[in-house]
Amino acid sequence: MDRELVIVIDFGGQYNQLVARRVRECNVYCEIYSYKTELSKIREMHPKGIILTGGPSSCYEEGAATCSPELFALGIPVLGLCYGAQLMSHVLGGKVARAAAREYGRTEVDVDQTSRLFTDVTPHTVCWMSHFDYIAQMAPGFRSTASTKNCPVAAAEDEARKLYAIQFHPEVLHTEEGSKMLWHFVRDICGCRGDWKMDSFVEENITAIREKVGGGKVLCALSGGVDSSVAAVLLSRAVGEQLTCVFVDHGLLRKDEGDQVEKVFGSGRNYKLNFIRVNAQERFYQRLAGVSEPEQKRKIIGEEFIRVFEEEAKKIGAVDFLVQGTIYPDVVESGLGGESTVIKSHHNVGGLPDCVDFREILEPLRSLFKDEVRKVGLELGIPEYLVYRQPFPGPGLGVRIVGEVTPEKVKIVQDADAIYREEIAAAGLDRELNQYFAALTNMRSVGVMGDERTYDYAVALRAVKTVDFMTAEAAEIPWGVLKRVMSRIINEVQGVNRVLYDVSSKPPGTIEFE
Ligand code: XMP
Repeated sequence: MDRELVIVIDFGGQYNQLVARRVRECNVYCEIYSYKTELSKIREMHPKGIILTGGPSSCYEEGAATCSPELFALGIPVLGLCYGAQLMSHVLGGKVARAAAREYGRTEVDVDQTSRLFTDVTPHTVCWMSHFDYIAQMAPGFRSTASTKNCPVAAAEDEARKLYAIQFHPEVLHTEEGSKMLWHFVRDICGCRGDWKMDSFVEENITAIREKVGGGKVLCALSGGVDSSVAAVLLSRAVGEQLTCVFVDHGLLRKDEGDQVEKVFGSGRNYKLNFIRVNAQERFYQRLAGVSEPEQKRKIIGEEFIRVFEEEAKKIGAVDFLVQGTIYPDVVESGLGGESTVIKSHHNVGGLPDCVDFREILEPLRSLFKDEVRKVGLELGIPEYLVYRQPFPGPGLGVRIVGEVTPEKVKIVQDADAIYREEIAAAGLDRELNQYFAALTNMRSVGVMGDERTYDYAVALRAVKTVDFMTAEAAEIPWGVLKRVMSRIINEVQGVNRVLYDVSSKPPGTIEFE
Protein backbone atom coordinates (compact mmCIF):
# COMPACT_ATOMS: atom_id res chain seq x y z
CA MET A 1 0.00 0.00 0.00
CA ASP A 2 1.36 3.38 -0.97
CA ARG A 3 0.50 5.11 2.28
CA GLU A 4 2.83 7.76 3.58
CA LEU A 5 3.90 7.12 7.15
CA VAL A 6 5.79 9.21 9.65
CA ILE A 7 6.75 7.49 12.87
CA VAL A 8 7.14 9.01 16.29
CA ILE A 9 9.62 7.32 18.58
CA ASP A 10 8.57 7.42 22.20
CA PHE A 11 11.14 8.05 24.91
CA GLY A 12 8.56 8.43 27.68
CA GLY A 13 7.62 12.09 27.21
CA GLN A 14 4.19 13.65 27.77
CA TYR A 15 3.69 15.05 24.30
CA ASN A 16 4.07 12.03 22.01
CA GLN A 17 0.41 11.91 21.05
CA LEU A 18 0.40 15.64 20.52
CA VAL A 19 3.27 15.28 18.04
CA ALA A 20 1.35 12.50 16.26
CA ARG A 21 -1.70 14.70 16.13
CA ARG A 22 0.26 17.57 14.56
CA VAL A 23 1.55 15.16 11.92
CA ARG A 24 -2.04 14.09 11.22
CA GLU A 25 -2.89 17.77 10.81
CA CYS A 26 -0.41 17.78 7.92
CA ASN A 27 -2.61 15.01 6.44
CA VAL A 28 0.03 12.37 6.96
CA TYR A 29 -0.59 9.12 8.78
CA CYS A 30 1.45 8.71 11.94
CA GLU A 31 2.17 5.89 14.35
CA ILE A 32 4.02 5.86 17.67
CA TYR A 33 6.62 3.23 18.54
CA SER A 34 8.71 2.59 21.62
CA TYR A 35 12.40 3.48 21.49
CA LYS A 36 13.02 -0.25 21.96
CA THR A 37 11.64 -1.05 18.48
CA GLU A 38 14.16 -2.97 16.38
CA LEU A 39 15.84 -1.03 13.60
CA SER A 40 14.94 -3.77 11.12
CA LYS A 41 11.25 -3.26 11.91
CA ILE A 42 11.56 0.47 11.37
CA ARG A 43 13.27 -0.15 8.05
CA GLU A 44 10.47 -2.49 6.93
CA MET A 45 7.84 0.18 7.59
CA HIS A 46 9.49 2.53 5.06
CA PRO A 47 8.62 5.69 6.99
CA LYS A 48 9.01 8.97 5.13
CA GLY A 49 10.23 10.59 8.33
CA ILE A 50 11.10 9.81 11.94
CA ILE A 51 10.45 12.08 14.92
CA LEU A 52 12.20 11.46 18.22
CA THR A 53 10.26 12.98 21.09
CA GLY A 54 10.83 14.11 24.64
CA GLY A 55 11.68 11.97 27.62
CA PRO A 56 12.19 12.42 31.33
CA SER A 57 15.83 11.36 31.69
CA SER A 58 19.27 12.71 30.80
CA CYS A 59 20.55 11.04 27.65
CA TYR A 60 24.13 10.69 28.95
CA GLU A 61 23.12 8.79 32.10
CA GLU A 62 23.61 5.08 32.29
CA GLY A 63 20.45 3.16 31.44
CA ALA A 64 18.77 6.18 29.77
CA ALA A 65 16.47 5.48 26.82
CA THR A 66 18.58 5.57 23.67
CA CYS A 67 18.71 4.66 20.00
CA SER A 68 21.24 3.21 17.61
CA PRO A 69 23.48 5.56 15.55
CA GLU A 70 22.30 3.55 12.53
CA LEU A 71 18.88 5.14 12.88
CA PHE A 72 20.47 8.33 11.56
CA ALA A 73 22.07 6.56 8.62
CA LEU A 74 18.93 5.13 7.04
CA GLY A 75 18.64 8.04 4.62
CA ILE A 76 15.29 8.92 6.24
CA PRO A 77 14.88 12.48 7.60
CA VAL A 78 14.95 12.55 11.40
CA LEU A 79 13.66 15.33 13.63
CA GLY A 80 14.65 15.22 17.30
CA LEU A 81 12.53 17.21 19.74
CA CYS A 82 13.75 18.13 23.23
CA TYR A 83 15.17 14.88 24.63
CA GLY A 84 15.20 13.58 21.05
CA ALA A 85 17.34 16.57 19.99
CA GLN A 86 19.80 15.96 22.79
CA LEU A 87 19.93 12.25 22.11
CA MET A 88 20.63 12.86 18.42
CA SER A 89 23.56 15.11 19.36
CA HIS A 90 24.83 12.70 22.01
CA VAL A 91 24.68 9.59 19.81
CA LEU A 92 26.32 11.34 16.85
CA GLY A 93 29.31 12.62 18.81
CA GLY A 94 28.21 15.95 20.28
CA LYS A 95 28.08 16.82 23.95
CA VAL A 96 25.01 17.19 26.15
CA ALA A 97 25.40 18.59 29.65
CA ARG A 98 23.42 19.95 32.57
CA ALA A 99 22.51 23.60 31.86
CA ALA A 100 23.42 26.31 34.34
CA ALA A 101 19.84 27.57 34.26
CA ARG A 102 16.82 25.37 33.67
CA GLU A 103 14.58 26.82 30.97
CA TYR A 104 10.87 26.29 31.43
CA GLY A 105 7.88 27.92 29.78
CA ARG A 106 7.46 30.59 27.14
CA THR A 107 10.87 31.60 25.83
CA GLU A 108 11.94 33.99 23.11
CA VAL A 109 13.96 32.34 20.39
CA ASP A 110 15.94 33.65 17.42
CA VAL A 111 15.68 31.40 14.40
CA ASP A 112 17.75 31.30 11.24
CA GLN A 113 15.44 31.53 8.23
CA THR A 114 17.96 29.80 6.00
CA SER A 115 16.96 26.56 7.71
CA ARG A 116 14.23 24.74 5.78
CA LEU A 117 12.39 24.26 9.08
CA PHE A 118 12.16 27.97 9.68
CA THR A 119 11.87 29.54 6.19
CA ASP A 120 8.72 31.54 6.93
CA VAL A 121 9.01 31.67 10.72
CA THR A 122 9.41 35.13 12.28
CA PRO A 123 13.14 35.58 13.10
CA HIS A 124 12.31 36.43 16.71
CA THR A 125 9.51 34.14 17.85
CA VAL A 126 8.08 32.53 21.00
CA CYS A 127 8.57 28.88 21.86
CA TRP A 128 7.85 26.53 24.75
CA MET A 129 10.92 25.26 26.53
CA SER A 130 11.16 22.57 29.17
CA HIS A 131 14.66 21.30 29.78
CA PHE A 132 17.46 21.05 32.30
CA ASP A 133 20.11 19.64 29.91
CA TYR A 134 21.36 21.42 26.81
CA ILE A 135 23.42 20.72 23.72
CA ALA A 136 26.83 21.97 24.89
CA GLN A 137 28.58 20.95 21.69
CA MET A 138 26.98 20.03 18.40
CA ALA A 139 27.75 16.73 16.70
CA PRO A 140 30.15 16.94 13.70
CA GLY A 141 28.39 18.20 10.56
CA PHE A 142 25.73 20.17 12.44
CA ARG A 143 25.19 23.94 12.50
CA SER A 144 23.13 25.92 14.99
CA THR A 145 19.89 27.33 13.52
CA ALA A 146 18.22 28.80 16.61
CA SER A 147 19.21 30.17 19.99
CA THR A 148 17.73 31.68 23.14
CA LYS A 149 19.27 33.83 25.84
CA ASN A 150 20.39 30.80 27.83
CA CYS A 151 20.62 28.19 25.13
CA PRO A 152 23.10 28.74 22.28
CA VAL A 153 21.83 25.68 20.40
CA ALA A 154 18.04 25.80 20.53
CA ALA A 155 18.03 24.07 17.14
CA ALA A 156 20.69 22.44 14.99
CA GLU A 157 20.78 20.61 11.71
CA ASP A 158 22.84 18.65 9.27
CA GLU A 159 21.04 19.49 6.05
CA ALA A 160 23.08 17.03 3.97
CA ARG A 161 22.00 14.07 6.12
CA LYS A 162 18.49 15.54 6.73
CA LEU A 163 18.94 15.46 10.48
CA TYR A 164 17.22 18.16 12.53
CA ALA A 165 17.23 18.83 16.24
CA ILE A 166 14.94 21.25 18.09
CA GLN A 167 15.40 21.81 21.81
CA PHE A 168 11.94 23.35 22.34
CA HIS A 169 8.49 21.85 21.74
CA PRO A 170 7.00 22.86 18.37
CA GLU A 171 4.03 20.55 19.02
CA VAL A 172 2.50 22.60 21.86
CA LEU A 173 0.36 25.62 21.08
CA HIS A 174 2.55 27.93 23.17
CA THR A 175 5.21 27.61 20.47
CA GLU A 176 3.46 30.16 18.34
CA GLU A 177 4.82 29.04 14.98
CA GLY A 178 5.42 25.39 15.91
CA SER A 179 2.86 23.98 13.47
CA LYS A 180 4.70 25.66 10.58
CA MET A 181 7.97 24.04 11.67
CA LEU A 182 6.41 20.58 11.81
CA TRP A 183 4.66 21.17 8.49
CA HIS A 184 8.02 22.05 6.91
CA PHE A 185 9.56 18.88 8.29
CA VAL A 186 6.75 16.59 7.23
CA ARG A 187 5.76 18.12 3.91
CA ASP A 188 8.93 19.82 2.64
CA ILE A 189 11.82 17.88 4.14
CA CYS A 190 10.23 14.40 4.24
CA GLY A 191 8.43 15.23 0.99
CA CYS A 192 5.05 13.84 2.05
CA ARG A 193 2.16 14.57 -0.32
CA GLY A 194 -0.33 14.76 2.55
CA ASP A 195 -3.27 12.77 1.19
CA TRP A 196 -4.31 11.07 4.41
CA LYS A 197 -7.64 12.13 5.97
CA MET A 198 -9.94 11.19 8.84
CA ASP A 199 -12.04 9.03 6.51
CA SER A 200 -8.94 6.87 6.13
CA PHE A 201 -8.79 6.61 9.92
CA VAL A 202 -12.38 5.41 9.94
CA GLU A 203 -11.88 2.86 7.17
CA GLU A 204 -8.62 1.55 8.63
CA ASN A 205 -10.14 1.26 12.06
CA ILE A 206 -13.17 -0.59 10.79
CA THR A 207 -10.93 -3.11 9.05
CA ALA A 208 -8.67 -3.48 12.10
CA ILE A 209 -11.64 -3.96 14.44
CA ARG A 210 -13.15 -6.58 12.14
CA GLU A 211 -9.90 -8.53 12.09
CA LYS A 212 -9.44 -8.35 15.82
CA VAL A 213 -13.01 -9.21 16.78
CA GLY A 214 -13.52 -12.00 14.25
CA GLY A 215 -16.77 -13.74 15.17
CA GLY A 216 -16.63 -12.54 18.79
CA LYS A 217 -19.38 -10.78 20.66
CA VAL A 218 -18.89 -7.15 21.58
CA LEU A 219 -20.43 -5.17 24.38
CA CYS A 220 -20.29 -1.41 24.32
CA ALA A 221 -20.71 1.02 27.15
CA LEU A 222 -22.88 3.69 25.57
CA SER A 223 -23.28 6.81 27.68
CA GLY A 224 -24.84 8.96 24.99
CA GLY A 225 -21.89 11.36 25.13
CA VAL A 226 -19.84 12.17 22.05
CA ASP A 227 -17.01 9.70 22.67
CA SER A 228 -19.02 6.62 23.45
CA SER A 229 -21.56 7.40 20.70
CA VAL A 230 -18.78 7.66 18.13
CA ALA A 231 -17.15 4.47 19.45
CA ALA A 232 -20.50 2.64 19.33
CA VAL A 233 -21.35 3.69 15.79
CA LEU A 234 -17.80 2.83 14.64
CA LEU A 235 -18.20 -0.63 16.16
CA SER A 236 -21.64 -1.07 14.69
CA ARG A 237 -20.20 -0.30 11.24
CA ALA A 238 -17.43 -2.81 11.86
CA VAL A 239 -19.21 -5.79 13.40
CA GLY A 240 -22.95 -5.10 13.00
CA GLU A 241 -25.14 -7.58 14.83
CA GLN A 242 -22.27 -8.88 17.00
CA LEU A 243 -22.53 -5.63 18.94
CA THR A 244 -24.75 -4.96 21.92
CA CYS A 245 -24.82 -1.51 23.47
CA VAL A 246 -25.69 -1.16 27.09
CA PHE A 247 -26.68 2.22 28.35
CA VAL A 248 -26.44 2.44 32.11
CA ASP A 249 -28.55 5.17 33.60
CA HIS A 250 -26.57 5.72 36.78
CA GLY A 251 -28.78 8.52 37.95
CA LEU A 252 -25.95 11.00 37.47
CA LEU A 253 -26.94 12.17 34.01
CA ARG A 254 -28.10 15.62 32.97
CA LYS A 255 -31.79 16.40 33.24
CA ASP A 256 -33.90 14.09 31.01
CA GLU A 257 -30.76 12.79 29.33
CA GLY A 258 -31.56 9.11 29.83
CA ASP A 259 -34.76 9.46 27.81
CA GLN A 260 -33.03 11.50 25.14
CA VAL A 261 -30.32 8.87 24.65
CA GLU A 262 -32.93 6.17 24.35
CA LYS A 263 -34.79 8.24 21.80
CA VAL A 264 -31.75 8.50 19.52
CA PHE A 265 -30.13 5.10 19.93
CA GLY A 266 -33.03 2.92 21.11
CA SER A 267 -34.32 -0.03 19.11
CA GLY A 268 -36.10 0.73 15.87
CA ARG A 269 -34.25 4.03 15.54
CA ASN A 270 -31.42 5.14 13.27
CA TYR A 271 -28.69 2.75 14.34
CA LYS A 272 -28.29 -1.00 14.65
CA LEU A 273 -26.83 -1.14 18.13
CA ASN A 274 -28.91 -3.75 19.99
CA PHE A 275 -29.59 -1.06 22.57
CA ILE A 276 -30.34 -2.03 26.16
CA ARG A 277 -31.11 0.54 28.85
CA VAL A 278 -30.45 -0.37 32.48
CA ASN A 279 -32.02 1.79 35.13
CA ALA A 280 -29.50 1.49 37.95
CA GLN A 281 -30.00 4.83 39.70
CA GLU A 282 -30.79 3.41 43.13
CA ARG A 283 -27.76 1.12 43.15
CA PHE A 284 -25.42 3.99 42.48
CA TYR A 285 -27.03 6.27 45.07
CA GLN A 286 -26.76 3.54 47.68
CA ARG A 287 -23.11 2.89 47.02
CA LEU A 288 -22.32 6.60 47.04
CA ALA A 289 -24.13 7.31 50.30
CA GLY A 290 -21.77 8.76 52.88
CA VAL A 291 -18.80 8.96 50.48
CA SER A 292 -17.26 12.38 49.92
CA GLU A 293 -13.66 11.77 48.81
CA PRO A 294 -13.45 12.53 45.04
CA GLU A 295 -11.21 9.65 43.99
CA GLN A 296 -13.27 7.21 46.00
CA LYS A 297 -16.45 8.48 44.36
CA ARG A 298 -14.87 8.07 40.91
CA LYS A 299 -13.72 4.54 41.75
CA ILE A 300 -17.12 3.55 43.09
CA ILE A 301 -18.95 4.87 40.04
CA GLY A 302 -16.43 3.19 37.72
CA GLU A 303 -16.64 -0.14 39.53
CA GLU A 304 -20.40 -0.15 39.81
CA PHE A 305 -20.59 0.66 36.13
CA ILE A 306 -18.52 -2.38 35.28
CA ARG A 307 -20.55 -4.59 37.63
CA VAL A 308 -23.75 -3.58 35.88
CA PHE A 309 -22.09 -4.48 32.60
CA GLU A 310 -20.97 -7.83 33.86
CA GLU A 311 -24.50 -8.62 34.91
CA GLU A 312 -25.85 -7.54 31.56
CA ALA A 313 -23.15 -9.50 29.77
CA LYS A 314 -24.16 -12.64 31.64
CA LYS A 315 -27.73 -12.17 30.46
CA ILE A 316 -26.69 -11.99 26.82
CA GLY A 317 -24.19 -14.85 27.05
CA ALA A 318 -20.41 -14.87 26.74
CA VAL A 319 -18.92 -11.59 25.62
CA ASP A 320 -15.43 -11.31 24.21
CA PHE A 321 -14.81 -7.59 23.98
CA LEU A 322 -15.80 -4.52 25.93
CA VAL A 323 -15.71 -1.23 24.01
CA GLN A 324 -14.92 2.01 25.75
CA GLY A 325 -14.89 5.52 24.35
CA THR A 326 -11.61 6.48 25.99
CA ILE A 327 -9.93 9.38 24.24
CA TYR A 328 -6.39 10.61 24.57
CA PRO A 329 -6.77 13.33 27.22
CA ASP A 330 -8.37 10.69 29.52
CA VAL A 331 -5.29 8.52 29.07
CA VAL A 332 -2.86 11.33 29.84
CA GLU A 333 -4.57 12.46 33.00
CA SER A 334 -4.98 8.96 34.32
CA GLY A 335 -1.20 8.68 34.13
CA LEU A 336 0.64 7.48 31.06
CA GLY A 337 2.54 5.06 33.23
CA GLY A 338 6.20 5.62 33.97
CA GLU A 339 7.01 9.18 34.93
CA SER A 340 3.69 10.94 34.64
CA THR A 341 1.42 11.58 37.59
CA VAL A 342 -2.24 10.65 38.03
CA ILE A 343 -4.35 13.82 38.12
CA LYS A 344 -7.75 12.11 38.15
CA SER A 345 -8.46 8.47 37.53
CA HIS A 346 -10.77 8.84 34.59
CA HIS A 347 -13.73 6.60 34.81
CA ASN A 348 -13.25 4.96 31.45
CA VAL A 349 -9.56 4.28 31.99
CA GLY A 350 -8.92 3.57 35.65
CA GLY A 351 -11.32 1.93 38.02
CA LEU A 352 -11.62 -1.32 36.10
CA PRO A 353 -11.69 -4.00 38.74
CA ASP A 354 -9.58 -7.10 38.19
CA CYS A 355 -12.63 -9.29 38.08
CA VAL A 356 -13.83 -7.92 34.75
CA ASP A 357 -15.24 -10.80 32.86
CA PHE A 358 -14.30 -9.84 29.32
CA ARG A 359 -11.46 -11.09 27.22
CA GLU A 360 -10.24 -7.71 26.08
CA ILE A 361 -11.04 -4.01 26.12
CA LEU A 362 -11.37 -2.22 22.79
CA GLU A 363 -10.61 1.49 22.81
CA PRO A 364 -10.78 2.61 19.18
CA LEU A 365 -10.50 6.33 19.98
CA ARG A 366 -7.64 6.08 22.45
CA SER A 367 -5.19 8.04 20.32
CA LEU A 368 -7.55 10.86 19.33
CA PHE A 369 -8.24 14.30 20.72
CA LYS A 370 -11.78 15.54 21.14
CA ASP A 371 -11.93 17.58 17.95
CA GLU A 372 -10.60 14.59 16.03
CA VAL A 373 -13.29 12.36 17.57
CA ARG A 374 -15.87 14.83 16.29
CA LYS A 375 -14.42 14.61 12.79
CA VAL A 376 -14.67 10.82 12.98
CA GLY A 377 -18.29 11.18 14.13
CA LEU A 378 -19.16 13.31 11.13
CA GLU A 379 -17.39 10.84 8.82
CA LEU A 380 -19.62 8.14 10.29
CA GLY A 381 -22.71 10.17 9.50
CA ILE A 382 -23.71 10.93 13.08
CA PRO A 383 -25.87 14.08 13.13
CA GLU A 384 -24.10 17.35 13.92
CA TYR A 385 -26.17 18.13 16.98
CA LEU A 386 -24.89 14.92 18.58
CA VAL A 387 -21.33 15.30 17.39
CA TYR A 388 -21.05 18.83 18.71
CA ARG A 389 -22.56 17.98 22.06
CA GLN A 390 -20.31 19.23 24.80
CA PRO A 391 -18.30 16.57 26.58
CA PHE A 392 -19.81 14.93 29.62
CA PRO A 393 -17.63 12.96 32.04
CA GLY A 394 -18.21 9.24 32.59
CA PRO A 395 -18.88 9.67 36.33
CA GLY A 396 -21.42 12.31 35.37
CA LEU A 397 -22.83 14.61 38.01
CA GLY A 398 -20.86 12.60 40.57
CA VAL A 399 -17.92 14.88 39.77
CA ARG A 400 -20.09 18.00 39.65
CA ILE A 401 -21.42 17.58 43.16
CA VAL A 402 -18.73 18.43 45.64
CA GLY A 403 -18.80 16.04 48.60
CA GLU A 404 -21.44 13.43 49.21
CA VAL A 405 -23.88 12.65 46.39
CA THR A 406 -27.55 12.38 47.33
CA PRO A 407 -30.64 12.16 45.10
CA GLU A 408 -31.72 15.60 46.35
CA LYS A 409 -28.40 17.17 45.33
CA VAL A 410 -28.59 15.45 41.94
CA LYS A 411 -32.00 17.01 41.36
CA ILE A 412 -30.71 20.48 42.32
CA VAL A 413 -27.72 20.32 40.00
CA GLN A 414 -29.79 18.85 37.14
CA ASP A 415 -32.35 21.65 37.36
CA ALA A 416 -29.76 24.40 37.70
CA ASP A 417 -27.73 22.99 34.82
CA ALA A 418 -30.78 22.74 32.55
CA ILE A 419 -31.54 26.42 33.13
CA TYR A 420 -27.93 27.40 32.50
CA ARG A 421 -27.79 25.44 29.25
CA GLU A 422 -31.10 26.89 28.09
CA GLU A 423 -29.92 30.45 28.67
CA ILE A 424 -26.51 29.88 27.09
CA ALA A 425 -28.20 28.51 23.97
CA ALA A 426 -30.71 31.38 23.96
CA ALA A 427 -27.80 33.84 24.07
CA GLY A 428 -26.22 32.04 21.09
CA LEU A 429 -23.11 31.14 23.05
CA ASP A 430 -23.36 27.35 22.93
CA ARG A 431 -21.03 26.77 19.97
CA GLU A 432 -18.55 29.33 21.24
CA LEU A 433 -17.99 27.64 24.60
CA ASN A 434 -16.28 24.28 24.66
CA GLN A 435 -17.81 23.14 27.92
CA TYR A 436 -20.23 24.72 30.35
CA PHE A 437 -22.24 23.34 33.22
CA ALA A 438 -23.56 23.96 36.69
CA ALA A 439 -21.97 22.25 39.67
CA LEU A 440 -23.12 22.04 43.25
CA THR A 441 -20.69 23.24 45.86
CA ASN A 442 -20.89 21.59 49.22
CA MET A 443 -21.32 24.97 50.82
CA ARG A 444 -24.50 26.18 52.43
CA SER A 445 -24.77 29.74 53.51
CA VAL A 446 -27.23 32.25 54.86
CA GLY A 447 -29.51 34.15 52.56
CA VAL A 448 -32.81 35.91 52.67
CA MET A 449 -35.85 35.22 50.53
CA GLY A 450 -38.99 37.25 51.07
CA ASP A 451 -38.70 37.98 54.74
CA GLU A 452 -37.32 34.58 55.55
CA ARG A 453 -33.81 33.53 56.45
CA THR A 454 -32.55 30.73 54.20
CA TYR A 455 -29.65 28.35 54.67
CA ASP A 456 -29.15 26.81 51.25
CA TYR A 457 -26.60 25.59 48.73
CA ALA A 458 -24.41 27.61 46.39
CA VAL A 459 -24.44 26.57 42.73
CA ALA A 460 -21.25 27.24 40.76
CA LEU A 461 -21.40 27.96 37.04
CA ARG A 462 -18.46 26.92 34.90
CA ALA A 463 -17.76 27.75 31.25
CA VAL A 464 -14.44 27.16 29.55
CA LYS A 465 -12.73 27.72 26.26
CA THR A 466 -10.22 25.09 25.30
CA VAL A 467 -8.82 23.35 22.27
CA ASP A 468 -7.68 20.07 23.74
CA PHE A 469 -9.24 20.04 27.26
CA MET A 470 -5.77 19.72 28.75
CA THR A 471 -5.52 23.45 29.35
CA ALA A 472 -8.51 25.78 29.50
CA GLU A 473 -9.49 29.37 30.21
CA ALA A 474 -12.67 30.46 31.95
CA ALA A 475 -14.94 32.13 29.36
CA GLU A 476 -16.06 35.74 29.71
CA ILE A 477 -19.82 35.36 29.70
CA PRO A 478 -21.78 38.60 29.35
CA TRP A 479 -22.92 39.89 32.73
CA GLY A 480 -26.54 40.11 31.55
CA VAL A 481 -26.59 36.39 30.73
CA LEU A 482 -25.08 35.48 34.10
CA LYS A 483 -27.62 37.63 35.90
CA ARG A 484 -30.51 36.00 34.06
CA VAL A 485 -29.20 32.52 34.88
CA MET A 486 -28.69 33.50 38.54
CA SER A 487 -32.16 34.89 38.88
CA ARG A 488 -33.83 31.90 37.22
CA ILE A 489 -31.86 29.36 39.26
CA ILE A 490 -32.63 31.03 42.56
CA ASN A 491 -36.30 31.43 41.68
CA GLU A 492 -36.87 28.04 40.09
CA VAL A 493 -34.56 25.63 41.91
CA GLN A 494 -35.41 24.83 45.49
CA GLY A 495 -32.51 24.59 47.89
CA VAL A 496 -30.27 27.20 46.22
CA ASN A 497 -29.74 30.75 47.47
CA ARG A 498 -26.42 31.68 45.85
CA VAL A 499 -24.94 31.41 42.34
CA LEU A 500 -21.18 31.76 41.82
CA TYR A 501 -19.18 31.98 38.60
CA ASP A 502 -15.91 30.03 38.48
CA VAL A 503 -13.15 32.10 36.86
CA SER A 504 -10.31 29.60 37.37
CA SER A 505 -8.33 28.38 34.40
CA LYS A 506 -6.84 24.89 33.98
CA PRO A 507 -4.22 24.59 35.35
CA PRO A 508 -4.37 25.25 38.25
CA GLY A 509 -8.07 24.29 38.32
CA THR A 510 -9.46 21.34 36.42
CA ILE A 511 -12.57 21.63 34.30
CA GLU A 512 -14.71 19.36 36.46
CA PHE A 513 -14.90 19.93 40.19
CA GLU A 514 -13.89 16.52 41.51
P1 XMP B 1 -10.79 17.76 33.91
O1 XMP B 1 -11.82 17.88 34.97
O2 XMP B 1 -9.86 16.62 34.15
O3 XMP B 1 -11.58 17.39 32.59
O4 XMP B 1 -10.10 19.04 33.62
C1 XMP B 1 -11.05 17.37 31.30
C2 XMP B 1 -12.12 16.86 30.36
O5 XMP B 1 -12.35 15.48 30.62
C3 XMP B 1 -13.68 15.27 31.04
N1 XMP B 1 -13.62 14.31 32.12
C4 XMP B 1 -13.92 13.02 31.98
N2 XMP B 1 -14.34 12.33 30.91
N3 XMP B 1 -14.41 10.38 32.19
C5 XMP B 1 -14.61 11.02 31.04
O6 XMP B 1 -15.05 10.40 30.08
C6 XMP B 1 -13.98 11.00 33.32
O7 XMP B 1 -13.81 10.39 34.36
C7 XMP B 1 -13.73 12.39 33.20
N4 XMP B 1 -13.30 13.33 34.08
C8 XMP B 1 -13.22 14.49 33.38
C9 XMP B 1 -14.20 16.62 31.48
O8 XMP B 1 -15.60 16.71 31.36
C10 XMP B 1 -13.45 17.54 30.56
O9 XMP B 1 -14.08 17.61 29.31
